[in-house]
Amino acid sequence: MADSAGIQQGSPAIGAAGLVPAAPGAGGTEGSGAAGGSARIAVKKAQLRCSPRPKKLEKLGVYSSCKAEGACKCNGWKSQNPPPTPPRTDQQSNTVNLQEPCRSCSHTLGDHVTHLENVSEEEMNRLLGIVLDVEYLYTCVHKEEDADTKQVYFSLFKLLRKSILQMGKPMLEAQESPPFEKPSIEQGVNNFVQYKFSHLPSKERQTIMELAKMFLNQINYWQLETPSQRRQRVPNDDAAGYKANYTRWLCYCNVPQFCDSLPRYETTQIFGRTLLRSVFTVMRKQLLEQARQEKDKLPPEKRTLILTHFPKFLSMLEEEVYSHSSPIWSQDFLAVASGGQVPIHTVGEKRKPSDPLPHEENKRPRVVGDIPMDLINEVMATITDPAAIPETSLLSAHSARDEAARLEERRGVIEFHVIGNSLNHKPNKRILMWLVGLQNVFSHQLPRMPKEYITRLVFDPKHKTLSLIKDGRVIGGICFRMFPSQGFTEIVFCAVTSNEQVKGYGTHLMNHLKEYHIKHEILNFLTYADEYAIGYFKKQGFSKDIKVPKAKYVGYIKDYEGATLMGCELNPSIPYTEFSVIIKKQKEIIKKLIERKQAQIRKVYPGLSCFKEGVRQIPIESIPGIRETGWKPVGKGKELKDPDQLYSTLKTILQHVKSHQNAWPFMEPVKKTEAPGYYQVIRFPMDLKTMSERLKSRYYTTRKLFMADMQRIFTNCREYNPPESEYYKCANLLEKFFYTKIKEAGLIEK
Ligand code: ACO
Repeated sequence: MADSAGIQQGSPAIGAAGLVPAAPGAGGTEGSGAAGGSARIAVKKAQLRCSPRPKKLEKLGVYSSCKAEGACKCNGWKSQNPPPTPPRTDQQSNTVNLQEPCRSCSHTLGDHVTHLENVSEEEMNRLLGIVLDVEYLYTCVHKEEDADTKQVYFSLFKLLRKSILQMGKPMLEAQESPPFEKPSIEQGVNNFVQYKFSHLPSKERQTIMELAKMFLNQINYWQLETPSQRRQRVPNDDAAGYKANYTRWLCYCNVPQFCDSLPRYETTQIFGRTLLRSVFTVMRKQLLEQARQEKDKLPPEKRTLILTHFPKFLSMLEEEVYSHSSPIWSQDFLAVASGGQVPIHTVGEKRKPSDPLPHEENKRPRVVGDIPMDLINEVMATITDPAAIPETSLLSAHSARDEAARLEERRGVIEFHVIGNSLNHKPNKRILMWLVGLQNVFSHQLPRMPKEYITRLVFDPKHKTLSLIKDGRVIGGICFRMFPSQGFTEIVFCAVTSNEQVKGYGTHLMNHLKEYHIKHEILNFLTYADEYAIGYFKKQGFSKDIKVPKAKYVGYIKDYEGATLMGCELNPSIPYTEFSVIIKKQKEIIKKLIERKQAQIRKVYPGLSCFKEGVRQIPIESIPGIRETGWKPVGKGKELKDPDQLYSTLKTILQHVKSHQNAWPFMEPVKKTEAPGYYQVIRFPMDLKTMSERLKSRYYTTRKLFMADMQRIFTNCREYNPPESEYYKCANLLEKFFYTKIKEAGLIEK
């Protein structure tokens, strides 16, 4: 959802066959024929390796100092009949005379190559390889017009010359050596795949991995724009930082692609987020543009991948690249995401069918009453089969409200961008056009708001707007103001243009806004909903019961007459834009599990007739056949039927637990800042404060629900923390205490 502002470009290496890497070239020297040069050098090197030794000596003599006795300072033999510049090996005669005097110092060629007399053929060939690289760099230095690039070529030229003179290995004398940033781009993209797609079935995940691999390949062959091009395009950028990275990239990645005597590294392995940020926007734009232009040349099997999935993949990655708090750039992402247990597969590496999936590992402690994982996996295998749920069926009458919008986004029909005005730098024309478009949509859809007021807030730099773009036009948006210090965001305007309403865009917009805020660690929304919009906000999870303490927002948000204050608390572990799909899958799983169970039970009992006869309630276990289905009451103990009695018993137990000396770690939800990655490891967080709220709202209609929540607290704690930790010990002690208390209350057998 980041803004894509690029106009000028680096160079894509996209190939007509569909995003395959093209031949490398020197940065900023498209006109110098560097790509073709790479192949030419390889041919020359092969030819030179096959030439007779005297010829090799002649070639090396040119780059070797004179060894004649006395203080001869000549550092390279020069022929009396100089060959064309640059020298052409294929046109020279094979007859080489070691007695030929040097044009410069008059000593013979033999005097310049005495040090090579006992040198092996292999070493000679290595030195000759460097010679050809030197000659190639010489032409690059002369043809290159960009001053920064020219300077780097020249330094490398000198470096290689020196290593021939000293017969050493070319060593770049940079102050720091690669990698220049951690985690690397490759690791970050890998983390992204795991972070965003590990829940997908293996076939789809495979597709994502293919996209990731393709993307990394593109970066490895991407031609960076020169520092001066970049300065023109992004004047406010960190110019010195970019130049440093550009120089490193030329020395370690780009030039070594054609001068193979220099050690070569992949861009994606030695650079990190900083370099990716400086190329991503332009790169994304160009790759998509080029894919569209070349769509007819794409092989059929690649078309969907490149034209449909790749744009969506890039949009999602863009968000993580520019986000300030994306976990994919965290050094300990792998440890956190895997809980230190699950092996992480690098991009492109195939996952074996038997490998456990992240977040699904079998080692996860099971909670009493959980359905066996094997059974779930078996059922999942049937429902995640794409043939089982064709895409069109998702758009049936039963599909979620936001389904169509989600598919449109995936196909690139609609886009979401968070945009805003700025006083520090002038937003580009496109952003300004969108802001004007948003002002129009809000003015039309919220006729009671003064137009000037809407304009003021939309263009106010403190406000941002999540905008929905279709065919380059704004069709909806949510204008908001973040108050990070107060822990909430105010939703100021929310609207979708009339002919696009009730198509799910409003829901999808809100879901994107929720995810954006989870990333920015603000977990509460407040809004003044006008009377016609209360229904919409309720459906998006808003309620009139405000969770943010009044002191936090009074004086911060605008009070609208005739509107109702509504709030929404976000749950950081919910992927909101995918939530309805997940729920749909869960429903499918349960349906299939029920079907399986039904298939196992052959006996059909007659229907219950007692209700017709006036009976209002019967014990569940008295329903004929119910026990055969596997149903059983949890433990044996007293099921309190009177809700008030159940409430007061549970309240007393909870009170005891909360007052226990080992309850302190579990009093409140775990803070993300205090436990890095907690919410990636723990899927169902629970704490005593949440339990108190649930109890208060009469959520615990059975003791089973209450016990399951309490059990979650202990299991989560033992899952996240090592056994020797204090937290782990507290969980064990408190659990023991809890079971004593529920036994005392007769909720389970003593
Ligand atoms: N009242 C009740 N329910 C509504 C309303 C409404 N005014 N508008 C939409 N819904 C329901 C839809 O029927 C749908 O329900 P369903 O999932 O059960 O079918 C659900 O809300 C979401 O519908 P979407 O199609 O996702 O939403 P839509 O794209 O129509 O956008 C929006 C909703 C933004 C409210 C749009 O209708 C609109 O622009 N309305 C006019 C402007 C407006 O009233 N904005 C809110 C003012 S308050 C404020 O800005 C802070």
